[in-house]
Amino acid sequence: MEEKIITTENAQPERKKKILSCIQPSGIPTLGNYLGALKNWTKLSSDFDGAFAVADLHAITVRQDPKKLRQQSNEVFALLLAIGLDPEKSIIFLQSQVPAHSQLAWILNCYTQFGEMSRMTQFKDKSLSHADNINVGLFSYPVLMAADILLYQADLVPVGADQKQHLEIARDIANRFNGIYGKTFTIPDPYIGKSGARVMSLQDPTKKMSKSDPNPKSYISVFDTPEQIMKKIKSAVTDSEGGVYYGEGKEGVNNLMSIYSCCTGLTNEQIEAEFQGKGYGDFKVAVAEAVIEELRPVREKFDYYMKDTAELKNLQAKGAETANRIADRTLTKVMKKVGFVIP
Ligand code: TRP
Repeated sequence: MEEKIITTENAQPERKKKILSCIQPSGIPTLGNYLGALKNWTKLSSDFDGAFAVADLHAITVRQDPKKLRQQSNEVFALLLAIGLDPEKSIIFLQSQVPAHSQLAWILNCYTQFGEMSRMTQFKDKSLSHADNINVGLFSYPVLMAADILLYQADLVPVGADQKQHLEIARDIANRFNGIYGKTFTIPDPYIGKSGARVMSLQDPTKKMSKSDPNPKSYISVFDTPEQIMKKIKSAVTDSEGGVYYGEGKEGVNNLMSIYSCCTGLTNEQIEAEFQGKGYGDFKVAVAEAVIEELRPVREKFDYYMKDTAELKNLQAKGAETANRIADRTLTKVMKKVGFVIP
């Protein structure tokens, strides 16, 4: 058998896997969103080919104030840059500036069953919390999310527990379409991060930290001032037992330890050793200082991008241009397979 000589011309460099994720522009993300998801995106963006979008189309499934939506979309876009995503290496864009998302979502709607959408737990929850506006977009939201993922032929999607069901439906839709028309879409796998910090409410550490919590002391926003961060962490709920160690019934301390660990890279054992014989007062100050230092560069870069609106627009246009090129390739393929007349 003839030996194949690998040269620079015919070498097939290992293709980097593609990863895609999106964040809704619904308010300023919390420390929980940052440590649980966003901080990982930056790491992932160097290991994979990344596409990261501000999911503004998803945001209008609940009523939005137009001015606020525009403002928050710009802010979240700037935040993606501020956390360290590099527009030279990753595609960073606003979902509504890439029409293929809406177009593919419509097509995929016709390959998705009413019954499977009805089973989505987030739809059931949101129907209860927005009982006066149970619109069809809210219902078919997972189909739009499937379109987001499938347009970029993403191999991996980092998802938290609340989005796992939606990723499963994206896989089902992709498999179904591939089954009818032949291989069209890459089947995406969930990407479960190693650390996967689950940051809990500072006031009720049995609940996830959430920006929609009516008590602002329960969460830290990524743009809280150092004074606010110090104050909120000092008033975090702990327990009456007094020792800094990880344990059952110590949800408040466990939560602070995991926040501290995410910001400093220390293990629980190292943290326990550091605070042996010390009280919660010292511990809380150290946690607050670590959080302040973690968020400081993010805040500074964010301010920088928000001041330069021309540069922000320019980066949005650049991201959308690349995203449109990739997304249109998949969309055209789909349109041909379905039987549309291609212009
Ligand atoms: N639905 C996700 C959320 O609310 C955001 C999202 C939209 C998303 N499209 C996506 C996440 C595609 C991952 C992949 O958090």
